Amino acid sequence: MLVNMRDLLADAQEGDYAVGSFSVANMEMVLGVLQAAKELNAPVILQIAEVRLKQSPLEVIGPLMVAAAEAAETPVAVHFDHGKTIEKITQALDLGFTSVMFDGSHLPLDENIKMTKQVMAIAEEYDAAVEAEIGCVGGSEDGSEDIAINCTKPEDAVRFEAETGVDALAIAIGNAHGNYKSTPKLRFDILEECENNTDLPLVLHGGTGITPDDFIRCSHTGIKKINIATATFDTVENTVRQCYNESSINGYYDLQAAEVRGAYENAKKHILIFGTDNKA
Ligand code: 13P
Repeated sequence: MLVNMRDLLADAQEGDYAVGSFSVANMEMVLGVLQAAKELNAPVILQIAEVRLKQSPLEVIGPLMVAAAEAAETPVAVHFDHGKTIEKITQALDLGFTSVMFDGSHLPLDENIKMTKQVMAIAEEYDAAVEAEIGCVGGSEDGSEDIAINCTKPEDAVRFEAETGVDALAIAIGNAHGNYKSTPKLRFDILEECENNTDLPLVLHGGTGITPDDFIRCSHTGIKKINIATATFDTVENTVRQCYNESSINGYYDLQAAEVRGAYENAKKHILIFGTDNKA
């Protein structure tokens, strides 16, 4: 069933686990993620980022994501990731997304707060949740930029919460989008300070390549939403390649089934690490 992301994250705070937010680019990925959620009786979030709309137009994939969430037996929130423009954020809300991110992390804090509040006022009309970001997560969502990591200052998180009351806050603790060149060293000291001084559900971007132990530690240290994008795309691609190498694809529908299986296996692995199984 389609649910508000606020409710999923409140349950995650109560139950001390994190919810996987899986980026999707087509129907096969949506079906694979939801198959894993159903099998493991897990809540999940389906998301697409604004920079990915070149490949998957919002007016086409958005209704598909919402319809799939509505038809799902487990709770599913549909989230617009890294919203940059009011135009696209509003379009996502009009399509029935239950959560939107406004990414003002590149702006001065005052401006980020002002813009986030503007987005919150729009989202309120739809009763949708809003995620914001402070500090800079490294890399970029589509690999087009190599943004340097700039860790969140815990005092900024405190101020951001007090002045916006946003529903979820993405923080930067040494994490980066895309595949890491070496194993990331997450700043748990910063995460702990943010957790101890705010009540907000915190969000970890750049989930691909973070170790299971670090995921688990994050999920018990205030992180309630974990974004996974590159791992989904890589697993889908690798599963298809392997099937071709084994000559097990004979025709289009075998290709489609391999894509669904790749997305399913990636989501299943992460749901189990995040501790979301049997939390639906
Ligand atoms: P990865 O591509 O590193 O998994 O990052 C996902 C993400 O944070 C999307 O916002």
